[in-house]
Amino acid sequence: MISQSAYAVEPWTLRESELNLDVLPQSESVFALSNGHIGWRGNLDEGEPHGLPGSYLNGVHELHPLPYAEAGYGYPESGQTVINVTNGKVMRLLVNDEPFDVRYGKLRSHERVLDLRTGLLRRVCEWSSPAGCTVRVTSTRLVSFAQRAIAAVAYEVEPLDSDVRIVVQSELVANEQLPRKSGGDPRVAAALENVLIPEEHFADDMRLRLVHRTERSGLRVGSAADHVVHGPGTTATSSESGQNVARLTVTSELRRGERLRVEKLVSYGWSGVRSLPAVRDQVDAALAGARTKGWQGLVEQQREYLDGFWARADVEVDGDAEIQQAVRFALFHVLQAGARAEKRAIPAKGLTGSGYDGHTFWDGESFVLPVLTYTSPDSVAEALRWRQETLPAARDRARQLGLRGAAFPWRTIDGSECSAYWPAGTAAFHVNADIADAVVRYVAATGDEEFERETGVEILVETARLWHSLGHHDHHGTFHFDGVTGPDEYSAVADDNLYTNMMAQLNLRAAADVVERHTGQAAALGVDDEEAAAWRDAAEAVAIPFNADLGVHEQSAGFTGHQMWDFAATRPDQYPLLLNFPYFDLYRKQVIKQADLVLALYKRGDAFDLEQKARNFAYYERMTVRDSSLSACCQAVIAAEVGHLQLAYDYVGEAVLMDLADLESNTVDGLHIASLAGAWIALVAGFGGMRLRRGTLDFSPTLPEQLSRLAFVVQVRGRRLRVEITDSSVTYTLLEGSPLELCHCEEPFTLTSSAPQTRRLRPQPHRPEPEQPQGRRPVRRH
Ligand code: BGC
Repeated sequence: MISQSAYAVEPWTLRESELNLDVLPQSESVFALSNGHIGWRGNLDEGEPHGLPGSYLNGVHELHPLPYAEAGYGYPESGQTVINVTNGKVMRLLVNDEPFDVRYGKLRSHERVLDLRTGLLRRVCEWSSPAGCTVRVTSTRLVSFAQRAIAAVAYEVEPLDSDVRIVVQSELVANEQLPRKSGGDPRVAAALENVLIPEEHFADDMRLRLVHRTERSGLRVGSAADHVVHGPGTTATSSESGQNVARLTVTSELRRGERLRVEKLVSYGWSGVRSLPAVRDQVDAALAGARTKGWQGLVEQQREYLDGFWARADVEVDGDAEIQQAVRFALFHVLQAGARAEKRAIPAKGLTGSGYDGHTFWDGESFVLPVLTYTSPDSVAEALRWRQETLPAARDRARQLGLRGAAFPWRTIDGSECSAYWPAGTAAFHVNADIADAVVRYVAATGDEEFERETGVEILVETARLWHSLGHHDHHGTFHFDGVTGPDEYSAVADDNLYTNMMAQLNLRAAADVVERHTGQAAALGVDDEEAAAWRDAAEAVAIPFNADLGVHEQSAGFTGHQMWDFAATRPDQYPLLLNFPYFDLYRKQVIKQADLVLALYKRGDAFDLEQKARNFAYYERMTVRDSSLSACCQAVIAAEVGHLQLAYDYVGEAVLMDLADLESNTVDGLHIASLAGAWIALVAGFGGMRLRRGTLDFSPTLPEQLSRLAFVVQVRGRRLRVEITDSSVTYTLLEGSPLELCHCEEPFTLTSSAPQTRRLRPQPHRPEPEQPQGRRPVRRH
C-alpha cells in the first residue's frame, strides 16, 4: 500500500520526497509517462532497482497458446500479451569506480516530481558512494505529446565535494529480465521472456539503433537514440552495440562546480508489415524530426500541448486539496492513455504496466472515452476508428458464434477475442452497446458528421445486427437477451441483464436513426427499411426486469429471488471475493462485484424517474462489494443524483485515490485508467450533474458541504464551456464559440460569450443513507 503521506499534496504536481523501495513498483506506475503510443514506466534511470521494468508500444504484443483442460467450440486459441520492448530510459552511472545504485552507499536526498502542467518527470538526488564521494544527479524525462514516436531524457551529474571521474552509459536495452510472476491473481500479466528476436544493431558516434521482431505475432520493433553531450574538456564519448544492447559511453573528469549533461532523444517504431529497412528508416526519420527541435524544443512543445489540454479540461476543487491534486493527476493519466493512441486501443492500464496483459476492455468506451469526448474529442474519433478497423475480426467472431453483425471482443490487443473464460468474456455482449454508445455520445457532443458517416454508421449497423440476432421475441412480443453477462462479474450467463438490455435498446434505436440520416451508407451495408424497422420493434419491446413486490428493477430476470451472500461471515481478507470463492457460488447469490444496474441508472437515466433511481440505488448498494475499481465512480454519480452527497463524496475519494493510495494493492501492475476517468465522471456527472440529453448538455449541480467550489471546463460542439458551482449557485460561462443551447435542471437557456448566466442549485431531497455490505462501506471523507 502507498501511505497517505507518500506524495505531497500540491495542486499541479506529484512530489515524492524520499525513495521508499517498498513502494517502488507502485510509484513506477504512478510516475509512468505516456502519450498513448509509447509508455515508459517510472523506472529509475539506472534501471535498477526496479519493481517492473516497463517500456511499451501501443499494440506491440506477443501471442501465446491458451491451454484449456477441457476445450470447447469457439474458445479463442491464442492469447495476446503486451511485451516489454526496448528500454530507452536507461542511463547507468559510474562514480569513480562504483556504480550509482541507491541500494549502496548513502542516498542523502531523493525527490521525484511529476509536473502535470509541463508533462515532465524530474528527479533530483544526492548520493554518496560507499567510498564517500558525493554527487548530485538530476534527470528530466518526457514522452512527447507533440511527436508521438519520441521520448527523451536529460541527465546531469555534478560532484558535490571532490573531483570525480564519471562514466555515463546511455543505453537501449532489449529483452530485460522480468521479475517472476507471483500468486494466482488472474489480473497479473503472463510474463513472456526473451520475446524480441534480434535483427539488427547499430552504433555510430552519438547514434544507436536496435531492431527486433517477435516470433508469433510477427511484429518488427525498432528503436533509435541520439545524444547531445555537454561537459568539460575532459569529456569523451564512444559507442558500441550488440544484439540486445546499444550503448553510448560518456566519460568525464568533473571538478567541483562542473557538470556533465547528456541529452538523449529516443524514437520508436513498429510494424506488422514493414521490412527491416523500412522500420530502420522510420525510427531514424522520427529521430531526425525530434533533432530539429532538440531537447528544449521538445520541452516547449510538451508545455504547449498541455496548456491547450488544461484550458479545455481543468477541474478545480476548493475545500479538498487532496481531491484537487488527484483529479488533475487522473486527467493527466487519462490524457496520456488516449492522446496519441491513434487507431489503437486504449488498454485498461493505459501503457503504465502489464496488468491484464495489456488488454483493452469495455473500460475504454464506457469510462475513458466519455471523459475524452468533452476534453480531447479528436482522440475519441481515433479510438473508435480503431474499433472500426477491427470490424473484420468482430464479424468473424459473430459468425463463429452463430450470430449476425459484429461481436467485438471482450478483451484484446489486436481486435480478436482472447478471453479464455467465456462466461465473463464472450457472454459480456454489452461491450458492443458500449462501443455504440461511445459513437452516439461523440457525434452528439461534437456534431462530427463526417465521422458519423464514415465510421459511426458501420459500427452502429453491425452492432444492431448482432443484438437483433442475439435476442428473440417471446409469444407476448417482448424481446429478450438470454444467457448474457452484464458488467457485474459476480453474475454470469443470466437472462435479460437490465444494463445489457437497456444499452442494446439504445444501440438498436441509434442504428435505426442513423440509417435514416445516411441512406447511401446504409444501402452500401445492405440495410433496408424492413431491417431498420425490425431493430425499432426489438428496441421498443426489450424486456426490463422489475420486481413489483420490492418495487425495484432486477439486475437480471430473477436476480432479486437469489439467496443473499453471507456478508457477515465474509472476512475482510477474503476480498476480492474472486480470489477466495468459486464463481459457482458467487453466480447464484445476490452479491455484486461492480455497479451494473446502478450504471444503467446513469447511462440510461432517461428511462427511470428519480424515485426509482433512489430505490434501486438503495437496494443494490447493500450487496455491491466494489471488487472492481470501475464501481465507485458509478455509485458516486447516482448517490449524488438521488441526494446522498456525503456518500457520493466518499466514492469520489475512492475513485480518485485508487492508484495514489493503491487501494486495491495492485497499482504495481499499472494504473486503473477507467477509475481515474471515473474520478472526472464522479465530479462532473456526479456533483456537476452533467448529462447529454438529445444533443444538449443538461446540468443539475449540487455540492457536498465539504467542498466550497467545483469548477470545470468542457468542450461541446466546438465551444468551450466553464461551469462553476458554489454552495448555492452555479455560473455558466461560454469561454469560446458561438451561442450554445444548454439546460439547467431540464430548463433550457441560451448561453452567449458576452453574458455568463447564474442559476440557483436544486434543493436536495432527504433520504436515509443506504447501507453497504458489512465491512465494505467506503472510507468516510471529512
Ligand atoms: C472488471 C471489468 C473490467 C476489467 C478491466 C475487471 O475487474 O470487472 O469490468 O473491464 O477489470 O479493468
